[in-house]
Amino acid sequence: MRVTSTSPDMTRRLAGELALLLRAGDWLALSGPLGAGKTCFVQGLAHGLGIRQVVSSPSFVLAKHYPAAVGLLHVDAYRLTSAEEFWDLGLQEQAEGSVTAVEWARNIAPALPVERLEVALEDAGGDRRVIECVAPGGRLARVVEALSGRWDRVLQTEAGP
Ligand SMILES: Nc1ncnc2c1ncn2[C@@H]1O[C@H](COP(=O)(O)OP(=O)(O)O)[C@@H](O)[C@H]1O
Ligand SMILES: [Mg+2]
Repeated sequence: MRVTSTSPDMTRRLAGELALLLRAGDWLALSGPLGAGKTCFVQGLAHGLGIRQVVSSPSFVLAKHYPAAVGLLHVDAYRLTSAEEFWDLGLQEQAEGSVTAVEWARNIAPALPVERLEVALEDAGGDRRVIECVAPGGRLARVVEALSGRWDRVLQTEAGP
């Protein structure tokens, strides 16, 4: 699915809707240049998972874990150059009980499960961001379909009767 977001709040709301459809053990690979809104999207995920802590960019710590019923593991792979470096962080256990959202996912692509939701963000000028969610198949493909339906309803509600 492809959405044009017109504000940071809209990006967070889209991610919040997505969070309601995710399960522990799910992986999201976020791509897009600096300032595209990857961290903003993860903030919305956290909110949707009921996490009330402030989510900021984990660039300097590489990964931050937010425990919750379904937790959030927020990884920033900007400074990582190989899958091995990622495995060395030893995050497997935290990932199992969490939704794992990886910024700069391409840097560690071989470390990511094939079953993952790709979220590509693109700066379309000003506050516009084109956000594309793609899954290879299986349950995550159905998640994307469900998100698409939910999002249509959100937009309809906002447009009013
Ligand atoms: N529609 C939008 N969606 C997300 N962020 C937006 C949007 N419009 C403007 N922004 C701004 O773009 C920046 C995105 O920053 P951030 O989420 O940290 O990006 P990244 O993690 O991709 O580097 C923020 O300053 C945010 O306020
Ligand atoms: Mg970021």
